Amino acid sequence: MPTVLAIETSCDETAVAVIRDRTILSNVVSSQILIHSVWGGVVPEIAARQHVETINYAIAQAYKDSGKTWAEIDGIAVTAAPGLIGALMVGVTAAKTLAMLHQKPLVGVHHLEGHICSAFLADPTLEPPFLCLLVSGGHSSLILVKDYGEYKVVGQTRDDAAGEAFDKVARLLGLGYPGGPAIDKIAATGNPKAFKLPQGKIADAPYDSSFSGLKTAVLRLTEKLAQANAELYPESLPELPLADIAASFQATVATALTTRAVNCALAHNLSTIVAVGGVAANSALRSQLVERAELNHLRAIFPPLSLCTDNAAMIGCAGAMHLAKGQTSPMTLAAQSRLDI
Ligand code: KG4
Ligand code: ZN
Repeated sequence: MPTVLAIETSCDETAVAVIRDRTILSNVVSSQILIHSVWGGVVPEIAARQHVETINYAIAQAYKDSGKTWAEIDGIAVTAAPGLIGALMVGVTAAKTLAMLHQKPLVGVHHLEGHICSAFLADPTLEPPFLCLLVSGGHSSLILVKDYGEYKVVGQTRDDAAGEAFDKVARLLGLGYPGGPAIDKIAATGNPKAFKLPQGKIADAPYDSSFSGLKTAVLRLTEKLAQANAELYPESLPELPLADIAASFQATVATALTTRAVNCALAHNLSTIVAVGGVAANSALRSQLVERAELNHLRAIFPPLSLCTDNAAMIGCAGAMHLAKGQTSPMTLAAQSRLDI
């Protein structure tokens, strides 16, 4: 199996890794979270500039950590789509430069295929077919992984993706950015049954998700609680039960995603569910999915947290798969902000 140096710059992580088949030889992730948190979200122009500042150091570090020489590296993989266009262009340009300089084949990778492949790194024995629950800042998708490189999207987000909902609700509750980890942390001390919130079911599309109604329901709930508080204690600042709200919101998202994933796996006769993407780091989703999978005699796989959020090891794994099949990209490879898997 090929040894691949991979680059990922689709959002706010400058990441470079070297992998061989399903083994990670090095994995460098330089996060811009602190820089963007000042603005309450990722600022595309700042992200691109930051990638330019960092990419050469990340490449040098990942190369050094891998213990490999350029002669031992068989190809250069890079996230080419989808993502922030300026950010993607930095990675694609760096990858082309390395490919030309070292005379290596170039492999453009779809970011979501990278997330799916994080499961192969987490469990080297995993083989298709399986169901992938891909939940990140931009996606809440259910994807049938029929074979290596063969995907069918059977469910997707109708409005706000799962991660987007976490980020927006966290902002609403004043918990900062990124919202997912902040909500996860405060929810640990709250009661997940404190408030009943809508799961956003869609009548004719049982595997699609809609979280914008849930976000609005949390907004209305906080307004109602703040008003009741102000009437009771007009002299003091309204205090909201933030932990209970966060726990109830998080449990609702986890139940919605778990129910859809389990039903989808059963309907398609699949015995394994793999949860990937940043939101797969969520503790409530992890525990609910493990429990419901066990009840239904399904296997649930979660990559470790470091492989759930954006990284280049997963891009390398997808790149190695393509390279082994002789699938490479031309030097005219262009970054694309949108692209179906
Ligand atoms: O996969 P990812 O790193 O980047 C994208 O491709 O979008 O996912 C980022 C998303 C953010 O919305 C973040 O709030 C969410 O994943 N996230 C979480 C947790 N950790 C990260 N959401 C819920 N619980 C977490 N523990
Ligand atoms: Zn991602």
